[in-house]
Amino acid sequence: MKKRPSGFGIEELPRIVRGKGSYLFDAAGKRYLDGSGGPAAFCLGHAHAEVNAAITRQLDEIACAYRYLFTSSALENLTETVLRLSGGVFQDIVYTGSGSEAVESALKIALQHFAARGLWTKRRFIARKRSWHGNTLGALSVSEFAQRRRAFEGSLLDVAFVSAANSYRRPDGVSGDALAGFLAAELESTIVSLGPNNVAAFIFEPVVGAAGGVVPAPDGYAQAIQAVCRKHDVLLIADEVMCGSGRSGTWRALEHDQVVPDIMSIAKGLAGGYIPLGATLVTARVAAPIHSEHGAFMTGHTFTGHTAACAAGLAVQHIIERDRLLDRVRTVGATFLKTLSHALGGFDEVGDVRGRGFFIGIELVRNRLTRLPFPAERALSFDIGARAFADGLICYPCAGNVDGAAGDTIIIAPPFNALDIELDEIVTKLVRAVDAALSAGSR
Ligand SMILES: Cc1ncc(COP(=O)(O)O)c(C=O)c1O
Repeated sequence: MKKRPSGFGIEELPRIVRGKGSYLFDAAGKRYLDGSGGPAAFCLGHAHAEVNAAITRQLDEIACAYRYLFTSSALENLTETVLRLSGGVFQDIVYTGSGSEAVESALKIALQHFAARGLWTKRRFIARKRSWHGNTLGALSVSEFAQRRRAFEGSLLDVAFVSAANSYRRPDGVSGDALAGFLAAELESTIVSLGPNNVAAFIFEPVVGAAGGVVPAPDGYAQAIQAVCRKHDVLLIADEVMCGSGRSGTWRALEHDQVVPDIMSIAKGLAGGYIPLGATLVTARVAAPIHSEHGAFMTGHTFTGHTAACAAGLAVQHIIERDRLLDRVRTVGATFLKTLSHALGGFDEVGDVRGRGFFIGIELVRNRLTRLPFPAERALSFDIGARAFADGLICYPCAGNVDGAAGDTIIIAPPFNALDIELDEIVTKLVRAVDAALSAGSR
């Protein structure tokens, strides 16, 4: 029997038997509302009949055509759709099987770009503290997530980290208005100290997910760091694996900031978890030297552009567009954020409720004024997650957002088609779980 860590210790995992819409059902007949779309992935809920039909149709025709031998309608139509939905700002797509691989490809394409231009010293990456980019060695190297890195330290790439762009936890002495400028200046001084000739790319999450508990950067930040990167011929990589594909209310999270990155990684919501699928999107400016010097991107895997996965992605994106679900994510998401803030506002320990669209983070603190976190040993976020789960609500607890160990946040990321009544159920059950966990620890 598989076990999972929880606020209560080690628990046996329930056996899943089916899902329908926003709900999952285990073998004991217990129902769970998927308030976080698993890890912010299941954007259309579960067992969507049209997505399943599209996948089945594709499987009946052909499951997978090897990318070096064939193209397919599923692959071509998904590529056309994703390039259009992302605003016509990218030229090429490399498909992957996960978010980590999409980030890995983004890093490699940045290196290949400079190799194609003969700029062989541009090999270093800069990333941000309190960030998560994935579990392959390259993606892990650019992630500042202590618990997940610890076992691999010593074999990771030498990456420089700059401050997180977190309005709730600003560097000492920096006001909210000055934050974007401060962070851009810090990035520039890091590039200068490494030597601009040595830096290939800066990678960041436009809205931080698991490592921060949904942290949108301050207004003006993305534009300011883009200007710094351009000035020093450093590529800007936006990791939109969690916050993108509509999750934040715009198809690209960075649309909100009117910034087009040089390279962008996406995954989770692209095919909504129906089949694993990720992608790396590349602008013409970055791709041009690669095409002229090397012919093709030197990244990708056996199952890159897997035909059935592309059919799943195409169906998911078609439904989201046809049913205008991003309008819903934007408008209902704004109301949902207010409702959650209001419902949780009575707890002194709820320090911040923030986010965009259907991507909301709740940060718990021991003291609202000082923003001091609870001790890591208390595992408050996991306790809340476990209590919510026992009550039939799935949310996404994250720990360590303050210093790598302490810090408790909960991510709420419902399916885009979750009904109003289901959103209400999330609020009710989350409030109940927060109350029970805080009461259990005598606050
Ligand atoms: C921002 C971000 N990048 C990359 C990844 C890695 O994606 P995957 O777990 O699909 O490999 C994640 C996963 O949570 C993520 O949130």
